[in-house]
Amino acid sequence: MFAIALHSLLNLTNMQTVTQYQQQHQQRFLDELLSLLRIPSVSADANFKTDVLRCAEEVKQRLVEAGAENVEVIATAGYPVVYGEKIVDKALPTVLVYGHYDVQPADPIDLWHSPPFEPVVKDGNIYARGACDDKGQMYMHVKAFESMWRTGNLPCNIKFMIEGEEEIGSANLETFAHQYADKLSADAILISDTSMIANDVPSITTGLRGLAYLEVEVTGPNRDLHSGVYGGAVANPINILCDMISSLHDENRRVTILGFYDVVEEVSAEERAMMANAPFSIDEYKSHLAINDVLGEKGYSTLERVSIRPTLDVNGIWGGYTGQGAKTVLPSKAYAKISMRLVPNQKSEDIMQLFEEHFKKIAPPSVTVKVSPHHGGEAAVTPTDSVAYRAAAKAMEATFGKTPIPLRTGGSIPIVTMFERVLGIKSVLFGFGLDSDAIHSPNEKFGLFNYYKGIETIPYFFKYFAEMSKK
Ligand code: BES
Ligand code: MN
Ligand code: MN
Repeated sequence: MFAIALHSLLNLTNMQTVTQYQQQHQQRFLDELLSLLRIPSVSADANFKTDVLRCAEEVKQRLVEAGAENVEVIATAGYPVVYGEKIVDKALPTVLVYGHYDVQPADPIDLWHSPPFEPVVKDGNIYARGACDDKGQMYMHVKAFESMWRTGNLPCNIKFMIEGEEEIGSANLETFAHQYADKLSADAILISDTSMIANDVPSITTGLRGLAYLEVEVTGPNRDLHSGVYGGAVANPINILCDMISSLHDENRRVTILGFYDVVEEVSAEERAMMANAPFSIDEYKSHLAINDVLGEKGYSTLERVSIRPTLDVNGIWGGYTGQGAKTVLPSKAYAKISMRLVPNQKSEDIMQLFEEHFKKIAPPSVTVKVSPHHGGEAAVTPTDSVAYRAAAKAMEATFGKTPIPLRTGGSIPIVTMFERVLGIKSVLFGFGLDSDAIHSPNEKFGLFNYYKGIETIPYFFKYFAEMSKK
């Protein structure tokens, strides 16, 4: 009895030391993040190559300063992975922290209220590209680690793997994982790259959708034509592409590609009931987006449509004349970028193939069609009965005063399934962002509340993960 009381008393003191350290260094924790945000590490655009590489070096430096060992910028066929670790005791459990230092392109730049790579702290938010996705969330872990290590309260071994190609599909990470499987061995992977329901409604993501991303090219005549001389007699590839794209959904907003839903698993009535109970206001949702109504697959709620159901969306479409004024032209070519979000069992490769076959089949003989796959990834479902999940839930309980709600989400982090397959390690999606943080959009932000709450909560995860692993 006495032993238990003393034990918990000591732990309380440990956590207080950690929290106190965080309060003392609050301003520096923020300044350091702002400096990372000033580096335009856009992986999709080769013009930013030196910035992406510079960002990797800065992350390395920060890990060293925080107290990590064996810190390296490890080359891959693409952008490097930053690795660092602190092994306190081989007998203790090991947590592998994954994050990404690359960011999405900032455009459309005109819509930003302040320059995307000149972070501004305003009204309790940090505004910058990457503030939430994922520099802010990744850096919470570096600062949480620093707070634990510098106060002598690191109860687990920790490894960091911070990559630079997440936003372009992590194409080189599978080879990396195979190559460094020993180095990356761990008992759990901890990832903060998702969101929670609200600042007073903590949640833990338990599922992510997969992705199949491709580009189509529709070719009509061998050159651009005068739309008066030829219009009406020769297929206009933009008109045709629009016809083809509209035919990809039926009147119930279901995807018409043959076989698209064949392996889609119906989610249990129990999980659907839990989703229906999750605090979500459709009116707020609509007003946030300034839309009069939502639109999606018949028979499913909005939350279901963005998490447990597969989708198809055109991400970009172009062709013909788009310059100033008017030019009468019947274009030779039309293009579109198309993404499909996938759910468990739908293999990205299979869906790409189904799409290609279908798209070629529906093309009229007056055009030719080329389909080029970009990247993809598989959907993920993470367990809620693992030690790591329970430690994460308990950590949130400690700092939010509420049990987090387990909820699937619509975005993709393809490496989650890949790590499970290659390394045999499951992940916990311990996100502290909000859907309203405008990731990938102009004026991306991350709340100061969220940044500091993450830094405060992560050490509790380590504490509970260590304690619960013993049992
Ligand atoms: N962090 C996001 C994924 C995310 C965001 C998941 C919010 C859940 C909630 C990640 O950086 C991302 O943007 N992933 C890409 C996939 C990738 C293959 C380009 C995506 O979802 O579009
Ligand atoms: Mn991300
Ligand atoms: Mn992203």
